[in-house]
Amino acid sequence: MSPRIPSAWFGNRDMILTADLANVQHLLSTNLSNYPKGPDTRRIFSAYGQILFAADIKDWRFHRKFALAFFHNQKLQHFTVRINQEVLEKGLVPVLDHASEHRVTVDLQDVFQRAMLDATFMMISGKNRGSLCVGLPKDVVLEALHDASDVILLRHILPERFWMFQRWLGVGAEKRLSKACEVLDDAAAKCIKIWKEQTSNISKSEHGEESLDAITFFYNEEEFLESVGEQDYTMREIVKGIIFAGTDTASPVLSWVFWLLSKNPIVESKIREELAVNLRATESRTRIFFDLKELKKLVYLHAAMCETLRLFPSSPFQSRTCIKADLLPSGHHVKANKRVVICTNAMARMRFVAFSSGPRICPGKELAFARLKAIAATSLFNYQFHVGTKIAKDQPVATPATSIILRMKHVFSKYGCSGVGVVVRDEWGNFVASSSHKIFGIFSPEVIEAYAAKTAISLLLQWKEPKIILEGDSLKIINMIKLMESDDSTYRVLLDYILLSLQSFAAWEANWVPRQANVPVHLLVRNARSISNICSWSSSPPPFLSSAILADLSSP
Ligand code: HEM
Repeated sequence: MSPRIPSAWFGNRDMILTADLANVQHLLSTNLSNYPKGPDTRRIFSAYGQILFAADIKDWRFHRKFALAFFHNQKLQHFTVRINQEVLEKGLVPVLDHASEHRVTVDLQDVFQRAMLDATFMMISGKNRGSLCVGLPKDVVLEALHDASDVILLRHILPERFWMFQRWLGVGAEKRLSKACEVLDDAAAKCIKIWKEQTSNISKSEHGEESLDAITFFYNEEEFLESVGEQDYTMREIVKGIIFAGTDTASPVLSWVFWLLSKNPIVESKIREELAVNLRATESRTRIFFDLKELKKLVYLHAAMCETLRLFPSSPFQSRTCIKADLLPSGHHVKANKRVVICTNAMARMRFVAFSSGPRICPGKELAFARLKAIAATSLFNYQFHVGTKIAKDQPVATPATSIILRMKHVFSKYGCSGVGVVVRDEWGNFVASSSHKIFGIFSPEVIEAYAAKTAISLLLQWKEPKIILEGDSLKIINMIKLMESDDSTYRVLLDYILLSLQSFAAWEANWVPRQANVPVHLLVRNARSISNICSWSSSPPPFLSSAILADLSSP
């Protein structure tokens, strides 16, 4: 299959799309020197740095040599074990524990992207970024990666003059991309700064002789340093390239795996069986972490991942530019300077080319599998996953995003979250304390109400109040509390906690109030959406709440 897309005033220039295996071999292996990525690619992909990924011919050969030396280094493998352990223990497990304890729905794609981002940052500078934490606060680098991959797709389609003009004017999609580039530049510069500070403070033995981060590796390669001009600039470009390559391409695989498992319960149970048979939980970390040897035994999980990558390759296409006019094995003529696009997505249904092939095959393949398997094994070994009912009803979850990366369209609105507000008053209605709490995910009013009641009760338990009155505007939740009833709903765990805790008070009441009478709480809920996690106030209310509290006090 090799259709030719003719040039048009509104489109990018002539290109040939191909999914023919013989053509792909010709382009990526046998005639690679005639099909570099080309100067267009360097301009289109500028956000990801100019080294390796976008480099061609001599430059590429030079950088590839060092990239292979880094990715195949034994010390990096040791370090990968430590990275996986840290990201799982400090990031993934607390977040999934919190979600399962509170029965909240989480966007697994976001969770996995953060896990990959943190692991990648650690691999680059030795320091965990910590974006994967309870509350899932907004992360500017993740947002920048999304923006960049969306706009880069537009750059492939629109005429260069159009997007260059947009960029010059600083409007539209190009404005988004410029901002994303600034964020990525800044993140890369910070990584290098942090690494330099750490290296000056930590002795080699503390740093761990067995570990190897990317910046240490490249700063220790004399041949590399001598050949590149501006060292700091080159290092920043390398770091940007690794942030993209290590995060964006790897994280969608897990969301597709978990989505496919939800459709194929037999495969899921076979993977769980394989985990149970092969994984010996380590002594100190009873259920969190599995070593590389154990992960290597998980052949069925590995096969499920390859199959997912075959059906949903993270990089759905690859683009090459023809230098000298050529004839493709399929019989199609390619003129000089014409672009040939390999449609990995269409091809992958027949062949496995998710990691590309030939001399430019992905050098991070083994590392990617080590991370992906560690995350999937820990998640499946310890938790049960269900597709959220709201999502299943309202949205076709498996729609791919319009991007150069085949990730799912966001199942929640971007960084979907809900707010919980609590106000504590004394017996005369005066303000005592309040809190705004952001929780990740979109929930029904009942879940939010139950969450708010639980938060209020936890607060009052700490203060050892003998008598309390709970007020809320969800009749259903208030009636269940009054009747001391729980049920099988998604908020059952919250209700069970509330009902048990209420027994610690000498006296309690639960009253329904109409929504209009609950203005301060709704202001706190609105405030919760704009904060990163939790905010609380005692003695005097925050300014945005004062007039609503006064209005409440003066109402009959
Ligand atoms: C499942 C995960 C991954 C997939 C599907 C994947 C896929 C790919 C593909 C298709 C290419 C070729 C792109 C092109 O030439 O246009 C590539 C290149 C590359 N990948 Fe990966 N990759 C993954 C993970 C990683 C990881 C974790 C790293 C390292 C942190 C990495 C580092 C690179 C680098 C440096 C290149 C450029 C190689 C070159 O041009 O010589 N990849 N990857």
